[in-house]
Amino acid sequence: MKILFIGDIFGKYGRQVIFDYLPSLKDEFEIDVCISNGENVAQGRGITEKTSRKLFEAGIDIFTSGNHLWDQRDSISFLETEKRILKPLNYPEKALGNNYLIHYTANKQKLAVVCLIGQAFMGPANSPFETIDKFLPELRKKTNNILVDIHAEATAEKRAMGFYLDGRVSAVIGTHTHIQTADEEILPQGTAYITDVGMTGPHDSVIGIKKNIILERMVTGMPTRYEVSSEGLQINAIFINIDDKTGRAVEIQRIKRKV
Ligand SMILES: [Fe+2]
Ligand SMILES: [Fe+2]
Repeated sequence: MKILFIGDIFGKYGRQVIFDYLPSLKDEFEIDVCISNGENVAQGRGITEKTSRKLFEAGIDIFTSGNHLWDQRDSISFLETEKRILKPLNYPEKALGNNYLIHYTANKQKLAVVCLIGQAFMGPANSPFETIDKFLPELRKKTNNILVDIHAEATAEKRAMGFYLDGRVSAVIGTHTHIQTADEEILPQGTAYITDVGMTGPHDSVIGIKKNIILERMVTGMPTRYEVSSEGLQINAIFINIDDKTGRAVEIQRIKRKV
């Protein structure tokens, strides 16, 4: 099974990159299923019905998410009902949203997709390690093909999750920092891993926001109004090929393209 995981799509320029370049990228890698982190789709913060609908139409099958999932207040009821947008599994049980998705490809292959959030420098969440342990037996009854997005700030937490799940899931893909790391590999027991897949959108920025605005805030300590940057557009993604009989990864390739 050939999987494309696209780094956080940031604001309207990130969305435009997807509209313009996703079809050819999917053709190039003969993709069966396409996943992206959607927490920054709408103005850099959150995801709405309208923005997600257009991206589904453009070829994204599933959105994982993170700390910005509910930033668009008007979209909360929509997020409760849209099964293709996942909340972090280890957020409190009462938090609204879908815990995981079993996706069927056109060839009737199954892929389970899950999102976890880190605990270091993030808001309150249950242990991602204990939570995935609770859910894995349920997922593995349905399929061996399992992809986990670990949305976390700390490199060590993501790296540790990679080793914790090595051999138990097909891929552990880090998100949240928006800066792609060059450490993609297949871990010893067959799990594809990268610490951070990066961001799709404006890279001549501070993680998506106009750099002069962030600089003013950091230098003066005074509040500023964030604006999405349009500069330095890139697609950041990861290609993974898994043997869908065993669920083990056989190939991982990092994608970082200026557009
Ligand atoms: Fe993000
Ligand atoms: Fe995030």
